[in-house]
Amino acid sequence: MPSTFGIVDLFAGPGGLGEGFASLVEDGHAPFRIGISVEKEASAHRTLTLRAFLREYRSRHGALPRQFIDFHAGDAPEPDWSEVDDDAWRVAIEEARALELGTETAADAIDAAIDRLKARYDDTILIGGPPCQAYSLVGRARSKGKVGYVPEEDERHYLFREYIRVLDKLRPAAFVMENVKGMLSSTVESRLVFEMLMEDLSSFGKGHGHKYELRAIRVEGGQASLQEAARPSDFIVRAEDFGVPQRRHRVIIVGIRSDLAGKAASVDIAVSSPSRTVDDVIGTMPSLRSGISRAPDSAAEWRKKVVDAARLLARIHAGKDNHSLREAFSSVARRMATEAPRSRTETRLYETYGNSNDELLNWLERSELRAIAQHETRGHMASDLGRYLFASVFGAVHGHSPKAADFPLALTPDHRNWHSGVFNDRFRVQLAQKTSTTITSHISKDGHYFIHPDPMQCRSLTVREAARLQTFPDDYLFMGNRTQQYVQVGNAVPPYLARQIAIFLRSVLI
Ligand SMILES: C[S@@+](CC[C@H](N)C(=O)[O-])C[C@H]1O[C@@H](n2cnc3c(N)ncnc32)[C@H](O)[C@@H]1O
Repeated sequence: MPSTFGIVDLFAGPGGLGEGFASLVEDGHAPFRIGISVEKEASAHRTLTLRAFLREYRSRHGALPRQFIDFHAGDAPEPDWSEVDDDAWRVAIEEARALELGTETAADAIDAAIDRLKARYDDTILIGGPPCQAYSLVGRARSKGKVGYVPEEDERHYLFREYIRVLDKLRPAAFVMENVKGMLSSTVESRLVFEMLMEDLSSFGKGHGHKYELRAIRVEGGQASLQEAARPSDFIVRAEDFGVPQRRHRVIIVGIRSDLAGKAASVDIAVSSPSRTVDDVIGTMPSLRSGISRAPDSAAEWRKKVVDAARLLARIHAGKDNHSLREAFSSVARRMATEAPRSRTETRLYETYGNSNDELLNWLERSELRAIAQHETRGHMASDLGRYLFASVFGAVHGHSPKAADFPLALTPDHRNWHSGVFNDRFRVQLAQKTSTTITSHISKDGHYFIHPDPMQCRSLTVREAARLQTFPDDYLFMGNRTQQYVQVGNAVPPYLARQIAIFLRSVLI
């Protein structure tokens, strides 16, 4: 029987990283089983628990429960999962824990789980990264603005020590630590956090047990391998190199226990073909309209506002140089005036759903499903509709998103410094024929950075579209309200990337 590894997933969020590992099944054998995943935020924890339940249910019954398919399709309220399968539910709540790392309660629960994992599995793996806010460049800039903010006192700087405590107790075969790029340059007490972390990670086992060899994942010519890092930036992994349709660059440190490190140097795996585009994963999704915030909202109202904006923009771009833009705006106005009204949500599966030979689409589309879930638009201020329309048309015509200076004066927002450069990228369209920019949790705040490429839809991305750009399969349901769902999606490691890292580790460890 091939080896099975028990996984500890810390700071698990909605479980993107864990999904990549847990989804791996080869010749009927799952080499990685999640033993415990720890997350403090309630909605993300609900997402984790439901996923853990579905995984367990599927391994017992070979399919998803009918009650989930109904709930997912929006045809039934959320059932009591313990009534669907009590045993599977018990496994799920034992696995997904709502705990705050850094507290004694969390440490006790993790320590107990570690003992169980060591007894039950051949070996273990530790995954997850301490939270990024304190490390991230954006987070630091924001925190600095806070009165009385002292970085040294920010307990989040020290949460990675909890990770190290668990690492020391678990002594897994390998660990995978993910973080934002900002952690490479973050300092505390004038010392680089990254340096302290590397020291801590590599100073294990002095005198007792095994040390960890720290490795970076390098992709060259479509092959991924583990390499010693010559500089900190070597630890940056580009999700797009793994066929994820998104430019997402994150620090990923892989540690291999020294007794297993010998093989690591010689393994390489073919990564999924790169250069996937936004259109590849959201181009077939049902087309929708946005809503209108703080004003009467209806399909007719929305269409009138977009048509008016398109006509105005066509007039503004009447000069010879702007021929393509003018034509594009006129075309939107013409087509929209005659087409059937759109809705803000659509659950119907598209015709080709589940029939693709494409590896990524095969991963995203789940043929058991009856519907598409969480594909519902937000409302936008009427004044922003023209800006969204402009951005999407400009992107389609010029192949890049417009800067503030590209917007016509008639669309100037009420920002005093609009032309100063500070707001240069305030409205960003995701280009159909390119990878998307990084899906961050900021997507929960407004849609300005995540404008849909189709001018006829004039809206920001739905939760499901963001989830697809993050490569979450369509049967991955995010719990909580819509803002919480966006945050979870934006926080995660793309499961499709995580799965390839899991395949890699499997080759190294088994
Ligand atoms: C970047 S996300 C993790 C994403 C996850 N690895 C994935 O792939 O889906 C970090 C998570 O850590 C959680 N978190 C932050 N501090 C925590 C703590 N002290 N204990 C437990 N969870 C915490 C946050 O709520 C957030 O969901």
